[in-house]
Amino acid sequence: MKTLAVLHASQLVTLAGAPRPRVGPEMRELRIVANGGMLLRDGIIVATGSSDEIARSVPADAELVDAGGRVVLPGFVDAHAHPVFAGNRVDEFEMRTLGASYEEIAAAGGGIQSTVRKTRAATEAELEQQALTHLQRFVACGTTTLEAKSGYGLSVEDELKILRVIRSVAARSPLEIVPTFLGAHAIPAEFDGDVERYAALVIDEMLPLVAAGGLAEYCDIFCEQGYFDIATARQILEAAKSHGLALRMHVDQLTNSGGASLAAEVGAATADHLEQTDADGIAALKRANVQPVLLPGSVYALGKTRYPRARDMIDAGLAVVLSTDFNPGSSPTQSIPMVLSLAATQMKVTPAEGVTSTTVNAACSLNRFDEIGSLEPGKLANFSIFDCDDYRELAYFFGIPQTHAVYVCGVEAFRV
Ligand code: NIG
Ligand code: FE
Repeated sequence: MKTLAVLHASQLVTLAGAPRPRVGPEMRELRIVANGGMLLRDGIIVATGSSDEIARSVPADAELVDAGGRVVLPGFVDAHAHPVFAGNRVDEFEMRTLGASYEEIAAAGGGIQSTVRKTRAATEAELEQQALTHLQRFVACGTTTLEAKSGYGLSVEDELKILRVIRSVAARSPLEIVPTFLGAHAIPAEFDGDVERYAALVIDEMLPLVAAGGLAEYCDIFCEQGYFDIATARQILEAAKSHGLALRMHVDQLTNSGGASLAAEVGAATADHLEQTDADGIAALKRANVQPVLLPGSVYALGKTRYPRARDMIDAGLAVVLSTDFNPGSSPTQSIPMVLSLAATQMKVTPAEGVTSTTVNAACSLNRFDEIGSLEPGKLANFSIFDCDDYRELAYFFGIPQTHAVYVCGVEAFRV
């Protein structure tokens, strides 16, 4: 039995409370213990309290972690990311600075398709190597659980290849990884816009293999003009459900196609992006208890200005989640603190609401609230120590690393 005591946290941000997503004013209740501490045994939290209290109950053979007056938070849970791909899109990034739009670049054969070409050409070992480098940066920013989507293969063989890479890097990285099948990310070039024929491939060949191999927990889809329309999305998502997969969806990112309402209709766990979602869409999400996953990094990096209506969503009682959307095209960042900064400055989400959105609420959206998302007895000892003495500094400072150390199941995964 290995015992660890974390002492002298200026703030132990526990987020203790009801085992369910936090909504409305609850999103500002972080249950902070000033000068806090924690006792951990075999990777599980045994007690939280004041540092003095914890110090009194520490067994003689315990290992001590001195937080040194820094802030301690639950490990961030990043509920939307695309971490497995080959190459990058720095050339397109430069084209956008010169005036081309994301949509124009995609229409000219760039965008998702250009990453698909490179990813198909890469070996599993190459993809693993690149993904592990990306994953290490998530950990360095304080993330301990990551949702990981396929979606840059778009053929039976290449989608399975990516899902196998996700599985193998999960075993080699300290991050806990939740796999999502995103075969319906775009219509591959060789299908020449024949969405029906590609949807049939996804439904008849990909989904059965993904489900039989236990390669994904969730199925996602890019519901957007020029990608998958509402009717096709419905078909694919219903098929995914019949294979036992739960649903997440990319909706209303570039245009409002009624994707939020479809997410409500099919009972998706989450509806993600929502930049163009209106009051009707918000009401539909509320009626069906779908969690919105907001991705301000993708708005920022595409140089757009229309952020999702986070305040309206919080005020409507939705259990908002914030995530990075890490991918090579629209959101090349692994940093949840950067997302907290964008959420505060661009969407008027308070730092406390931001922390709730990236811990407890994100954990609920991945059906993992029993184990992660807050610092409470019985949960995994996944936590980060940040170089500040007030948690709000995580959203206030931007573009600089503030992580001091990260622990997963009580084991050090990162330290400056
Ligand atoms: O979430 N919108 C679709 N998928 C990604 C972008 C993918 C890419 O450009 O490679 C997103 O923004
Ligand atoms: Fe995405």
